[in-house]
Order: sequence, then C-alpha cells, then structure tokens
Amino acid sequence: MVKSLTENNSQINMKHGEKVPRILITRKLTDAAERAFSNTFTCQLNPEDKALGADGIIAAAEGRDGLAITSMDKFDAALINRLPTSVKILATVSAGHEHVDLGAAKARGIAVTNTPGVLTDATADIALLLMLGAARGAHWGERMVRENRWPPASMVKPLAHDFSRQRLGILGMGRIGAAVARRAKGFDIVIHYHNRKPSLEADAMGATYHATLEAMLPHCDFLSVNCPMTPDTRGIINARTLALLPKGAIVVNTARGGVVNDEDLIAALRSGHLAAAGLDVYNNEPNIDPRYRELENVFLLPHLGSATLRTRTDMGLRALANLKAFFAGETPPDKLN
Ligand code: DGY
Repeated sequence: MVKSLTENNSQINMKHGEKVPRILITRKLTDAAERAFSNTFTCQLNPEDKALGADGIIAAAEGRDGLAITSMDKFDAALINRLPTSVKILATVSAGHEHVDLGAAKARGIAVTNTPGVLTDATADIALLLMLGAARGAHWGERMVRENRWPPASMVKPLAHDFSRQRLGILGMGRIGAAVARRAKGFDIVIHYHNRKPSLEADAMGATYHATLEAMLPHCDFLSVNCPMTPDTRGIINARTLALLPKGAIVVNTARGGVVNDEDLIAALRSGHLAAAGLDVYNNEPNIDPRYRELENVFLLPHLGSATLRTRTDMGLRALANLKAFFAGETPPDKLN
C-alpha cells in the first residue's frame, strides 16, 4: 500500500451486515467532495495529492470495490488488465474520458462513468476568457504592467483585435459549445457551428449550422474548439483546415489538445495566417510543445477549464452519485460503457 494514502471509514450506510463499498480516490479532491465520499463509503484518500503511477494504483486498488479517478490518471488496457478483480467500477472525476480505455474496461466487466454537465459554465467561461485574452493581448498587456514596461504614448502601438460583433465558429455544439454561444451572444457575435447534427438550442439563438467543418471555417473570425476527443476528431485542426480560416482568425481550444495538430497551429501562428490563439489544453500535458511559450500571439492557460472550487466539488459529487447508484444496483446516470 502507498504510504501517503489514508483511509476514512464511513459513518453512515453501515446497514446490518451490509458491506460498505471500499473506494480508492486516486487524487486529492476538494474537502467538501472528500467529506461526502467519506460519509458514504470506506475511502482511501490521497491527501498529499501525489501521482500514484500505474504500480501505485495497482497496489492501492487491492481489495477496493471501485476507484474514483481523474483525467491525470491514464487507464489504458495494460493498467485495466492488471486491476484486482474486486474493482467493479471506475468513476472518473472529469467530463473527458479519453484517458480510460472503455473497451478494455467493458471486457473485464468494469463499469466506467464520467461527470458531464457540472463543468459546463466554468469551461465556457474559460473559452470566453481565451477569446478575449488572445484577441486583446491580455497576456502581453499584463506583463507590460507587471514588468514596469508601460508602452510609450502612441495611438497606434500596441493595437490588438476586436471580439465584439465578430463571427464565431463553434466546433462541437454540445453543452459547453451551447454555453459558449450563449455567452458570445452578449458580445453581439454572429454564431456559426458544426456538429454531427443541428442543435435546436443553437438554432433558436440564430446560429448557422454547417454540416461539415470545412463549410464553416471560411465564416469564422474566431474558432472555438468544443468537441470531445475521439478517433474522428484527433488532429482535425490541422494545416488543411486552418488554411480554410480567413487570414487573421483566432483559434481557441478548451476541449482537448489532441484535436489540434501542434506543428500546423504553430506554423499558422508564425506565418501570420492566424492572428492569435488561446489555449487551455495541449497535447502531452504538462509537457507541452515548448514553441508555444515563445509565441507572443498565444494566450496560454494550464488546463483551468473546470478549476473552480464549486465546479471541482460538483464534479466530485457527481462521481459519488455514480458510485452510489452503481453500488445500489442501479445504472449510474453517467455510465459510459
Ligand atoms: C474535464 O473534466 O474533462 C476537464 O477538462 C478536466 O479534465
């Protein structure tokens, strides 16, 4: 057993002779979420928030009935196949679930759940922050003040880009895409979107549907990536699709880094085809392509989409609700496989 993990015994749910499920929580959650977990199950916590790694997870999972995991833990087939047979469910405290091999879990009879819905507002807020930040140069403006480099008096330097009244293309009109659209309406933005199928909510907002990404891109001064990462969306923002954007467009990504081809995005930012980009997610986090750090026209955040106290607590509670349903013999509301 990993030394830094601690066990909390459930105070409730100890019905006559009924075994209280034993849960491993792989990373530290908010205090409120951990309290709720510990009041429901016998929980092994990770108070030091150390990455357990594959071997640590396997050791700590021994004798556990379920695991609450995060997008920082990679549950590929190799790890899933090593899990003790006691483990019947993986509840990821995240909306994204590309870090879990759903097929491998299913083959072993392990259910997988995620936490959609509760991080919609927080993530959409960050998408707006990225669009505004990238367009208006919030990152270099902030550095100028902080580093005591106030720009010389001038009407023409520095200048940035407008956000209000521009055309925004939303790739992926799910919950988060729709929340981005609602917010953008407050800036008199003209909205275009591409999704597998039209969205009634987006259509009611006056957004224009495009059946293909290629058809939408020429209409986008801003492109917001809000689609899940799947084999179909991996790398779809690439040299070919970026070339379809008007010169001077701005791309923001709050979905997953894998949707974007870094090489091609960096080339478009360097050539000036794109005016700017705003990124919260990256390939190979946290070891992102170092060239992003050198580009003055990129507004960079370290995957903060869901990082508010309330949202992270709600995510923990949603994972808990899934585990409770599962151990009560019901179908968890967010079952994925
Ligand atoms: C999510 O839940 O998918 C967020 O991006 C955090 O990983």
